[in-house]
Amino acid sequence: MPSPSVIRRIRRRSWPWVMHRHRKLWAEPDLFNPENFDPEAKAQHHRFQYIPFGAGPRVCIGMSFAQAEALILLSYWLTQFSFRPAPDHTVFPTAIATLRPLGGMPLRVESLR
Ligand code: HEM
Repeated sequence: MPSPSVIRRIRRRSWPWVMHRHRKLWAEPDLFNPENFDPEAKAQHHRFQYIPFGAGPRVCIGMSFAQAEALILLSYWLTQFSFRPAPDHTVFPTAIATLRPLGGMPLRVESLR
């Protein structure tokens, strides 16, 4: 029988990627659709339907930092380089706590300058 603290921890854990692909919550759960984040679409969603950083009292403390960092890096990289999937590589999703490409995501990167 697990101790009460273990039970509390298990009850607190969830995998956001499960909810982000739930067939009852999203029209096309396996599609990356940026329009899901338009203000009109977001207004139709439950506030805890999309929670990449968790939610509630234990929400990720690095959330603002991670979002700022991602925007800075992506805006720089996308103006400097082009990214294409490596030929002959099939992307296959795998998930533990987070969803990720099995065996990594080899890319062909070329300078735009
Ligand atoms: C894209 C980047 C990141 C994602 C997707 C992410 C996601 C998450 C998630 C889902 C949780 C669990 C929240 C919950 O239990 O409800 C979490 C917790 C946490 N994250 Fe992040 N995180 C990211 C970056 C960071 C960074 C950059 C830091 C530190 C600088 C950080 C520090 C933490 C800490 C300390 C917790 C535990 C909070 C607590 O239990 O009170 N994370 N994160």
